[in-house]
Amino acid sequence: MSALPDRYCPTDGTRIPSASLTWCCPACRGPLDLDHHPTPAPLKSLTNRPGSLWRYAECLPLPRPDFTLGEGRTPLVPLTGDVSAKLDFLMPTLSFKDRGAVLLTALAAHLRPDLVVADSSGNAGTSVAAYCARAGLPCAVYVPDGTSPKKLEQIRAHGARVEPVTGGREAAARAARAAADGDGVFYASHVFNPYFLHGTKTYVHELWEDLGGRLPDVIVVPVGNGTLLLGAALAVAELHSAGLIDRRPALHAVQAAAVAPLARAWQQGADDVTEPVAVAPTLAEGIAIPAPPRARQILRAVRESGGAFHTVTEDQIRHAQLDLASQGLYVESTGVACWAATRESGPLGATLAGRSAVVPLCGAGLKSGLAAQG
Ligand SMILES: Cc1ncc(COP(=O)(O)O)c(C=O)c1O
Ligand SMILES: [Zn+2]
Repeated sequence: MSALPDRYCPTDGTRIPSASLTWCCPACRGPLDLDHHPTPAPLKSLTNRPGSLWRYAECLPLPRPDFTLGEGRTPLVPLTGDVSAKLDFLMPTLSFKDRGAVLLTALAAHLRPDLVVADSSGNAGTSVAAYCARAGLPCAVYVPDGTSPKKLEQIRAHGARVEPVTGGREAAARAARAAADGDGVFYASHVFNPYFLHGTKTYVHELWEDLGGRLPDVIVVPVGNGTLLLGAALAVAELHSAGLIDRRPALHAVQAAAVAPLARAWQQGADDVTEPVAVAPTLAEGIAIPAPPRARQILRAVRESGGAFHTVTEDQIRHAQLDLASQGLYVESTGVACWAATRESGPLGATLAGRSAVVPLCGAGLKSGLAAQG
């Protein structure tokens, strides 16, 4: 394989080779970025390429691994005149996380660690477990107590060890990080390892291709740790600096009102989240992150795009799930948050005013069940 781009700390510039098992900045313990600034291929050269996210090879930091599951190229379907949905629940493990997990696992396969560990509210862990199974790598996934039983079943089915942790999502992350400090361990962190973001960015490369070389006015994304949002910002920057779009879309971020550290910081005009917010129970378990490590980057990306943060209530989530199901789309309760915000009754829908928007439907309904029945 040709040389991998270095990772570096966006706070203090410390550089770390991608081929090292070090998972965070040794100076400040923060998440890392990737020194990778590719130029996307023009639209007309994309014909006759693989029907997966690997068709954007110029933009990806690694070559297509032999264990690809054909991830990516999900359909875009209209919901209303202005709003379309991208069906990212139609991925090999039924969530958008496959976009990033396949890149993390390709990196791990290159390093051949003794163990791959991940922490997850369920979907990222499922995805890492599946790709590790396919790549022949042993895997352990740290999950908070109370994770959806269907997600645990799916992780175990792929042969990964499930490590339930009491004390919530943050405690699961701490336990995984302690394990990640052990010798020979690769931390497949969707938060700290920037390869994940260079996978999620293909969501926007696909939108650009499907819309004939344009992007919608508004891209709406759910935000817990912000991996889809930061991936989207990377792709927009790549397309814009290559002159392939002339206007950048507004990135609108959605959180559950029950756990909304970023929306709160946004309202206060803060540029970071310094204290974890108190956690209330929420149907949107996948975005219930009280202190996202990339908070500063997420807030900046939304601000620079001209977007904003929005919150949705538990009732809005329930109604959005039923509404999508009534249109033939069965989506997990976290995955409906963006539609809850963007439909007419939601906080963003009321202000869209004829602008075109795309919402992701990020996870399959069978993972969480129907919230209205819970
Ligand atoms: C279905 C679904 N949507 C959205 C998210 C949020 O992703 P992120 O934490 O990267 O913002 C998750 C994360 O687990 C998820 O499972
Ligand atoms: Zn640092």
